[in-house]
Amino acid sequence: MTKPLEGIKIIDFTHVQAGPACTQLLAWFGADVIKVERPGSGDVTRNQLRDIPDADALYFTMLNSNKKSLTLDTKKPEGKEVLEKLIRESDVLVENFGPGALDRMGFSWERLNELNPKMIVASVKGFSDGHHYDDLKVYENVAQCAGGAASTTGFWDGPPTISAAALGDSNTGMHLAIGILTALIGRDKTGKGQKVAVSMQDSVLNLCRVKLRDQQRLERVGYLEEYPQYPHGEFSDVVPRGGNAGGGGQPGWVLKCKGWETDPNAYIYFTIQGHAWEPICKALGKPEWIDDPAYKTAEARQPHIFEIFGTIEGWLADKTKFEAVDILRKFDIPCAPVLTMKELANDPSLRASGTIVEVQHKKRGSYLTVGSPIKFSDMKPEVTASPLLGEHTDEVLTSLGYSRQDIFNLHEIKAV
Ligand code: COA
Repeated sequence: MTKPLEGIKIIDFTHVQAGPACTQLLAWFGADVIKVERPGSGDVTRNQLRDIPDADALYFTMLNSNKKSLTLDTKKPEGKEVLEKLIRESDVLVENFGPGALDRMGFSWERLNELNPKMIVASVKGFSDGHHYDDLKVYENVAQCAGGAASTTGFWDGPPTISAAALGDSNTGMHLAIGILTALIGRDKTGKGQKVAVSMQDSVLNLCRVKLRDQQRLERVGYLEEYPQYPHGEFSDVVPRGGNAGGGGQPGWVLKCKGWETDPNAYIYFTIQGHAWEPICKALGKPEWIDDPAYKTAEARQPHIFEIFGTIEGWLADKTKFEAVDILRKFDIPCAPVLTMKELANDPSLRASGTIVEVQHKKRGSYLTVGSPIKFSDMKPEVTASPLLGEHTDEVLTSLGYSRQDIFNLHEIKAV
């Protein structure tokens, strides 16, 4: 099966998570992704949080599948020469170094554009160019704080909270992938490459769009009716943390199920969709609520929403999270069990769809990873193992026209 990105050559000058997540996605879809890594050490995640001595850490293997690894010291003249050759014949260069690192290496946008005017140069930085923080190095949690996620996540009586989801890292990588694909389509029309830049702050803020909605609503009316603070609590002039409240027009909460006293994940998320009030009452065995003026409308329910959630928890007390969802799904109620990583790893549906995949690795043996969350009717992205450090160095150098002697010499001076 021909993959849509076959024939697209990508220099993957990325590390840690944000950049690698982007290039991994493009590799799944057929691009020839060559990861350029520093000789001897490579991407720092190869060594971070290792669970098997001497084998690449899962942090690396789960973000670098389907790629090739070329070791290259791009600060040495010989390494720069190899990189220049690669640039001349590649379609995309992706990087997420700290601010200014690529320029210091001698590969500014201007220089890259001069070497290959058709190449797309894609970058992740913590903050956008010209931002007053654009000199900062940034990791995931820094981005979550800078992008508005932390101030709006958690409970009102606790500190700002970081989400476990990689809103700063992988999310930014996904934004960058969209930018790269757009620039590739643009290049088909203009014949020219361009610079594509995504900042982690912007990508987090993009996902916190509804909180900016709420800030403006708050400034206009002084309260947010779907937050737990309404109508009994106080609002300040900033969007508060809303705990587990639903972010849209329908209230929801995380509710206890049978066994919650000992199992920290014996919960479901329950949503009270306005038009589903009748089925909810029927499911709960509370038909008298259907037409009761104190419960009939969303507005009437809000002042005692936690009393309603409490009643639902009473109903849930003798049901496991799975039993509860099996009953509620029949009533068309939007809900889900709170799933653990263990449950997700073993979920047969996720295995069947290719969302959780088992990969064979030369050193690790088999490991689980998250496959493509994007499904196609004409293509099933196959996930192959991440490369060992420098596994494809000689192969790439040969394809660039280097002789066996040249390659030997480059190894000798540790340029590769
Ligand atoms: N050969 C020689 N040198 C290399 C090299 C190679 N193959 N690959 C990288 N380097 C050098 C760079 O030139 C740079 O050197 P310099 O600082 O002397 O100019 C250095 O290695 C790497 O710098 P940097 O990217 O700043 O690494 P760091 O470990 O200090 O910082 C981050 C890590 C993630 C904080 C930083 O890269 C960053 O802010 N990136 C942008 C935002 C981002 O993507 N963050 C999320 C990561 S998940």
